[in-house]
Amino acid sequence: MKDVRRWIRAKLWDQVPVRISVIDRNYRIVAANPAFAKAYGRWYRRPCYVVYKGRDTHCSPCSALSSFRDGRIRNIEEQGVPQGGVPTWYYCQMVPLVLPNGDIPYIIEMSTDITALKRLEREKIEAERLAAVGQTVAGLAHGIKNVLMGLDGGMYVVRSGLERGDPARIAQGWQMLEGNVARIGTFVRDVLEFARGRVPRVQLVEPNRIVRDVVGSFAEAARHARISLNAQLEPDVGSAMMDPDALHTCVANLVSNALDACQVSDKSRRHVLVATADRAGVLVIEVSDDGAGMDYDVQKKAFSTFFSTKAVGKGTGLGLLTTRKIAQEHGGRVSFETRQGKGSVFRLEFPRDRLPKLEPAAEGGGETAAAPR
Ligand SMILES: Nc1ncnc2c1ncn2[C@@H]1O[C@H](COP(=O)(O)OP(=O)(O)OP(=O)(O)O)[C@@H](O)[C@H]1O
Ligand SMILES: [Mg+2]
Repeated sequence: MKDVRRWIRAKLWDQVPVRISVIDRNYRIVAANPAFAKAYGRWYRRPCYVVYKGRDTHCSPCSALSSFRDGRIRNIEEQGVPQGGVPTWYYCQMVPLVLPNGDIPYIIEMSTDITALKRLEREKIEAERLAAVGQTVAGLAHGIKNVLMGLDGGMYVVRSGLERGDPARIAQGWQMLEGNVARIGTFVRDVLEFARGRVPRVQLVEPNRIVRDVVGSFAEAARHARISLNAQLEPDVGSAMMDPDALHTCVANLVSNALDACQVSDKSRRHVLVATADRAGVLVIEVSDDGAGMDYDVQKKAFSTFFSTKAVGKGTGLGLLTTRKIAQEHGGRVSFETRQGKGSVFRLEFPRDRLPKLEPAAEGGGETAAAPR
């Protein structure tokens, strides 16, 4: 044990692969270990910002200044330019030396080079981005291929109608062509809307009113499909700072999915309920259905780009992704519970303290663009 203690006292400072420096209240380095000297070169009584970063003025913000003020330990990740001029990332722990009278004459800074880790992190993000691009391109190609097949079929019917001099067949083929051209329009619009990444336009809205509007707009379709569609709105929900169009899209996507799930179920009585509530400062909107539910495979893929189990031309596979994107832009989230053959509940949750805020310049002015988070 004695040996260990002696070793720690005599060698730790010299041998640890961590760069240690001590700075005084004038930000001058007054002590440094060999690992520090090796990485940063000349250091004695030079300002930390010169040695670490090659700057000629203080860093802004300066973490050491904060630790001198409040005596708290800080862990930061920073980029510096040590000897040789190649920028490196380092993880730095700043430990203020607090005397019994409360004075803080020095801060000990212990830095570890994390450049390699940062590079890996960047490479991983880039790989994920490329994978997402690949997935998107594959989805687009798939969507376009489906429409092309439809156009091909329409052309064939028109051509054969012309060859046979059969006006009814020509009309049938023409209708197929029109239908597929319309599908291209919808497909392109959906994709553009999803890709555009609009900035939320927030204003004080009544979520209950928006839910009521959505339910109203689907009422006819639900009646036609013999599905009972109802709203259960809690008056406490009041108002909230949200983008009304985006919230409308969010709820409409969920209601549309719920109605579709009921349509494919063979039950005789099918229901969709949209409920609002305020649960401990969280605005909750739930869309539940007793439709087909989802099996494990669909559950895993439901939020993937262009994933749809619906007939060609009926589902683009962007509804849930758009809903999730909008929920996140409002500081919220979307989750679901489902049982195959029993139904599903999709839940939007918006913690009120994370909703977008009015920008100060526009405060009192009604509507404004909120910076996305
Ligand atoms: N309430 C639900 N019940 C059962 N399955 C659902 C439900 N909601 C979504 N799904 C499944 O998740 C898939 C993806 O839904 P999403 O809304 O993203 O795309 P979509 O409805 O197929 O197409 P669209 O882009 O037109 O919305 C659906 O195809 C369906 O299989
Ligand atoms: Mg959908």
